[in-house]
Amino acid sequence: MRADGRDPIREAARLLTERRNAVALTGAGISVESGIPSFRGAQGLWAKYDPMEYATLHSFMQHPRKVWEMLSEMVSVCGGATPNAAHKGLASLEEKGVVRSVITQNVDGLHQAAGSRRVIEYHGNLDELICVYCWRRFQTRDRWTPGDVPLCDCGEILKPNVVLFGEPIPWLPQEQAEEEARTCGVLVVIGTSAQVSPACDIPRIAKESGAAVVEINPEDTSLSGNVTDIHLRGSASEVLQRLLQTIFT
Ligand code: OAD
Repeated sequence: MRADGRDPIREAARLLTERRNAVALTGAGISVESGIPSFRGAQGLWAKYDPMEYATLHSFMQHPRKVWEMLSEMVSVCGGATPNAAHKGLASLEEKGVVRSVITQNVDGLHQAAGSRRVIEYHGNLDELICVYCWRRFQTRDRWTPGDVPLCDCGEILKPNVVLFGEPIPWLPQEQAEEEARTCGVLVVIGTSAQVSPACDIPRIAKESGAAVVEINPEDTSLSGNVTDIHLRGSASEVLQRLLQTIFT
């Protein structure tokens, strides 16, 4: 409950119920409770690996084996993870017609595993590998084993089909995400620090197009206090469960 006596969960539930055309934008925070560390912050992946050394297209082209030290950790951790209550809560909101799609910056595939159907993978997916020389594609499970680097039939080292720094967002998810942002009634932003461009523009596009922006995050972000209309503080699973209970009871 806020100082003015209004309950932000109830306000968010009312907006979602009245407008019924919400879109979710998710980031690493939604998968933290599945055991996947986020990127920023003390326990984040970028505290261990400097992204400018381990996560740019340029570094992959120069030193793919070195970049695979970081990628192997991501593929192993994500490969063993299962959806948590927040992923399942979003899938359930889609099934009930409250949320119409999920735009995710995550590459772990957990929204689909939880049952979400309309998922826009803005930064790609770790399930697929691509050869940056001959463009052949493979399923990661068919080519990669822990401790090894995956090779293409042409002999080059394969790259996961995810967006590294210095790579553009593929045109289809970029167009779909912008269209969803322009036309939704509510954008629910979950577990992202909103520091990486162009994903961080999505909430601004939604807001400028007339949507209300609801943020679910235990911390403040670059959106809080300006773009965000309602900030629901807490973990994604706890807040989404409270939201579901409030909407459907
Ligand atoms: P970040 O690591 O930057 O931010 C994670 C956010 O999740 C923070 O704001 C946390 O406060 C919040 N958070 C932590 N635990 C949470 C929980 N249990 N429930 C809800 N929120 C929680 O991750 P992203 O914003 O997703 O891109 O990072 C964006 C992009 O930066 C990634 O897609 C990746 C990275 O570099 C590329 O690799 C291109």
